Amino acid sequence: MGSSRGSYYSALKRITKVANSAFSLRKICNSIAKSTAKAMQANGCRILSLNPQKEYLLTVGTYGLSDLYLKKGHLDARKSLPDILEGKVVFIADAAKDERVQHPQIALAQGISSILGVPVLGKGETIGEIRIYTREPRQFSEADTSFLLSVADMCAVIFERAELHQLLEQDYKASERRRKSSQVSPLPTTTLRPTSFAHPSEEDFAKVLDFYCIEWLYEPRSFPLRWKGDKIAEMFTPDFYLPELDLYVELTTLKQNLLTEKNRKLRQLRELYPEVNVMLLTKNDFLKLLAKYGYGPLGEAKVEGIDRVLYSHAKIQQRIRTLARHISRDYAGQRLVLIGILKGVVCFMADLMQHLSLPVTLDFMAISYYGSDGQVVKITRDLDSSITGQHVLMVEDIVDTGMTLNYILSHLSAHNPASLRVCTLLDKRARRLINVPLDYVGFEVPDEFVVGYGLDYKGEYRNLPFIGILHPELIKGEGPR
Ligand code: IMP
Repeated sequence: MGSSRGSYYSALKRITKVANSAFSLRKICNSIAKSTAKAMQANGCRILSLNPQKEYLLTVGTYGLSDLYLKKGHLDARKSLPDILEGKVVFIADAAKDERVQHPQIALAQGISSILGVPVLGKGETIGEIRIYTREPRQFSEADTSFLLSVADMCAVIFERAELHQLLEQDYKASERRRKSSQVSPLPTTTLRPTSFAHPSEEDFAKVLDFYCIEWLYEPRSFPLRWKGDKIAEMFTPDFYLPELDLYVELTTLKQNLLTEKNRKLRQLRELYPEVNVMLLTKNDFLKLLAKYGYGPLGEAKVEGIDRVLYSHAKIQQRIRTLARHISRDYAGQRLVLIGILKGVVCFMADLMQHLSLPVTLDFMAISYYGSDGQVVKITRDLDSSITGQHVLMVEDIVDTGMTLNYILSHLSAHNPASLRVCTLLDKRARRLINVPLDYVGFEVPDEFVVGYGLDYKGEYRNLPFIGILHPELIKGEGPR
């Protein structure tokens, strides 16, 4: 028994034709399996594709095999005729007895005797297999094997084309996404204030942001949501962008019809631009959001007497991270003793030390002022541990006239530390009387009385999460303590 060269030639003609058709991959492979089995006068044919990790084989085309055979599902690539994975041709004379057959009982039930398997090679690598099954025991000739190898070559081209198609599809989708994002208007580089707001609630929102010194841009960008052909059919422009928080904010009332529509747009925006952070906020949501970012909870009473906010919580944190980076770099490989003067430094000390990538220990001192003008400094609590031979960083909340720091530094120097430097969050340089060296400075502040973030006025305001300017009326006639 065998097939003639003529029948192989016409089968290959049919196969090339169908391979070049617009049919789906599965339809093409089924048709090839049929032509192959018929040309070889076999009872069944199966075309399998190997997954890229070379773990399993997936049937992509069959002919003449019953469901039972196909329901075996994925074939384990290492167990099922592993020689084919190595690029070899495999011949099995008796499937029921040959231990290379993964499911001999099924082969038996199907009445399958002989199998001829060849690898589908793409660029020298096995990317799939073709198997021919016969009910009668069969020896395959060289012409049979050579025909099957030609069919395998055709399958390799088809597989690679399908992969290319998939790649092109992915690339097209990615370029569509890029095209759409390129239609998003760029963020303005300046923070121009709008002459008018579309809604009074937006103006209120802007005032709250201003009070807390949170940077904002009004309606800075439009995001296309829907296209008709190449034209943008729908856009969405969030009300605000808060650069420090990298957050777009759309304000809303609780009116159901508006809410539903805005929610729909937001959903679409998030789908199309997953990298964009956007929130739909009611006034209450906004207050909660402020709390989340460390601005609250702020009852009116808590901020009474504050003229304006000088540094927002976010700005302070940002600056502290930078200071901590510089300190960590300068002291790399060393241990550091941080010394603070109670109580103004507590917030700054707590945040700063958390960002230092060094081994640190802490110590605190307390002082009081006396004398008629309150300018004489007395230490009321000294250090717990010796600093002799240690690297010491004096951490200050604010340096004003410089008198306090000057006194403390001479006290500390007397203990012979290995080094002594100063890090202050605020530098009120305009009022300096003694020129003390400052190694790390957070912000230079104007000649105003500032409170918050640990700094107090008569013991109050230390718990504000920002640094604000106290209303001058409150401190009329008083100097710093
Ligand atoms: P100095 O000795 O004049 O440099 O300032 C000493 C202390 O005065 C600081 O450590 C603060 O406790 C306090 N101080 C100076 N200016 C201010 C301010 O604007 N707000 C709160 N405390 C201040």
